[in-house]
Amino acid sequence: MNSKLITLDGPSGVGKTTIGKKLASDLNLDFISSGMLYRAIASHFDIKGVNSFNEIQLTSKEPITFVIDGETYTEKLLYSSKINEKSSEIAQQIEIRQIVSNVLRFLFESSSNGLVVEGRDMGSVVFQDADLKIYLDASESTRSKRRLAQSGSKESIEDLRNRDLRDINRKNSPLVVPEDALVIDNENMTIEDVIKKIKENLKLQ
Ligand code: DC
Repeated sequence: MNSKLITLDGPSGVGKTTIGKKLASDLNLDFISSGMLYRAIASHFDIKGVNSFNEIQLTSKEPITFVIDGETYTEKLLYSSKINEKSSEIAQQIEIRQIVSNVLRFLFESSSNGLVVEGRDMGSVVFQDADLKIYLDASESTRSKRRLAQSGSKESIEDLRNRDLRDINRKNSPLVVPEDALVIDNENMTIEDVIKKIKENLKLQ
């Protein structure tokens, strides 16, 4: 197998999904958001009042849709304040992280084109051999504004900060800058600027 793998990691609201989708479409690669997987699982637990499941499937890439034990979870419904919080909470559990990692590795193995995958531990833990690892960063206030624009649901700076703190300080696979990552502070960059920079680095390889 010789397909390209690009990881995008970084804190909440930094633009990983927007940039990842555009990059994947430009390069003709598949895109997957690991955050959305955690969100779909959190939503399932919340709606069903359970804390485990038997089967999870990706059934659509656009909009990203997961089916968990027969229930459908589509990306636009996964950005409520409740699910922001709950996804970060369940992501602390090692068992859940292992399931998500296995699903992501399976999706990469089954992808004929290759994959752009975003999250918190994509380059540091799940895909340590990725062809290119990117770490995106921007200030809290900018990220909070972007999250608001993306989801339409309020995530205050305090909520975003608390979620980042939990994601950074947890025991299992915390958010870190992968050792061999290209760090892009996109505070004052457009989406196109970031994509251009990533493509330049791909060419250097
Ligand atoms: O990227 P996001 O905001 O959609 O992610 C939601 C939560 O899922 C985030 O607060 C922490 C968790 N998450 C994680 O622990 N590891 C990942 N690779 C992706 C997301």
